[in-house]
Amino acid sequence: MKYAGLFFVLLLPVAASAQSAATGNVDNGKKLFLREGCWECHGYAGQGGRDGARIGATSLTLQGVIRYVRKPAGAMPAFSEKNLSDADLTDIYAYLKSLPPVKTAKDVPLLNQFKNE
Ligand code: HEC
Repeated sequence: MKYAGLFFVLLLPVAASAQSAATGNVDNGKKLFLREGCWECHGYAGQGGRDGARIGATSLTLQGVIRYVRKPAGAMPAFSEKNLSDADLTDIYAYLKSLPPVKTAKDVPLLNQFKNE
């Protein structure tokens, strides 16, 4: 971690020029999300599933996600920097942020019709 400061100095100009969420590469993030098996527990669209929490359009910060993935609090396996770099997680974060928030029943017009009958 000695070079963590340097890492961010070098990364910042790159992140500032990226298109989405001011960080990361959405397409690469999607690839990593699939390659690393995040989807197996969290679903293809981060919608959550039997085992994983809903993480699509997460309200966590990038630092929060990195911290969590390195040292999960519950049933989730940890991913070390060797397997998944901070840059990789920045891309995954951009992908998660690019996903639409999950709709609730009241956002689906057809369901509202039924409710009023
Ligand atoms: C084996 C199943 C599994 C895999 C694989 C997995 N997760 Fe998780 N994840 C969980 C579970 C279960 C939780 C809910 C809290 C807990 O038990 O740790 C969670 C929680 C999280 C959270 C915190 C959500 C919140 O709002 O607090 C983040 C962020 C997250 N996962 C990201 C990832 C990423 C990124 C990957 C791929 C690199 C991944 N997870 C792979 C099971 C998994």
